Amino acid sequence: MPRTGITMGSGLSGLAARIENPIQIAYSDLEGWPVPTVRGHSGHVVAGELGGVPVMGFSGRVHLYEGGDPPRVGFYVRVAGMTGVSTLVISNAAGAINDGFAPGELMLLRDHINLTGTNPLAGPARPREPRFPDMTAAYDQDLRDVFRECAAELGTTLHEGVYAAVHGPSYETPAEIRMLRTLGADAVGMSTVPEVIVARATGIRCAAVSCLTNHAAGITGEPLSHQEVIQVGRQCEVALGDLVALAVGRLSEPPFYGG
Ligand code: HPA
Repeated sequence: MPRTGITMGSGLSGLAARIENPIQIAYSDLEGWPVPTVRGHSGHVVAGELGGVPVMGFSGRVHLYEGGDPPRVGFYVRVAGMTGVSTLVISNAAGAINDGFAPGELMLLRDHINLTGTNPLAGPARPREPRFPDMTAAYDQDLRDVFRECAAELGTTLHEGVYAAVHGPSYETPAEIRMLRTLGADAVGMSTVPEVIVARATGIRCAAVSCLTNHAAGITGEPLSHQEVIQVGRQCEVALGDLVALAVGRLSEPPFYGG
């Protein structure tokens, strides 16, 4: 069974096409599985191999802004964990806040700030999950080392920074972006953090990469558009795919597994 899960965000589901010998199942064919409602988020599970390593891909995800109970956003993470996934590599699209970061570049998440106003673990504690999961090292140091190493080998720019998660669906105002910058955020997006929280609560270690699809609101004075996010996301796909494929291969080797 796959020990590595890969989540593909907005405009990034081309990564799923790189999974070999795929068995693909639409979320809508899986009873109880939350189905994304947003364009650019096709929804299916793809089990197969990436660089010879068994993986379980999640192409498309639901977001908090789509409504419903916050825990539904972490549904797939719990399913992944139950089927044996112990490492989750999450991709997303994000707006660049850090002045040194440009659209089309990638950012490895070092940490996050949860500004969604909610938490997917709220409610009764689940059996075998800690009530108060530790988030000190939400983004695994060893996994980050592997991603950095792989990016250097590929000659891919990989920034590292703090991702602020907001609820959405409206994009931020320029004042909100100034606030996020002051708070220490390097990028902003509407996903990933609830999933990482569920992953940590269920003992899954995480790495996450943002495709920086745009300058955050107010930085250039240009309006933001979902179309631009999808378009630049597609431009990131090759670099992201190469990086994830190489890193996933490394993660299957000692000292991660099999050593
Ligand atoms: N803000 C929030 N979410 C996003 C952005 C953004 O600028 N770009 C892509 N997802």
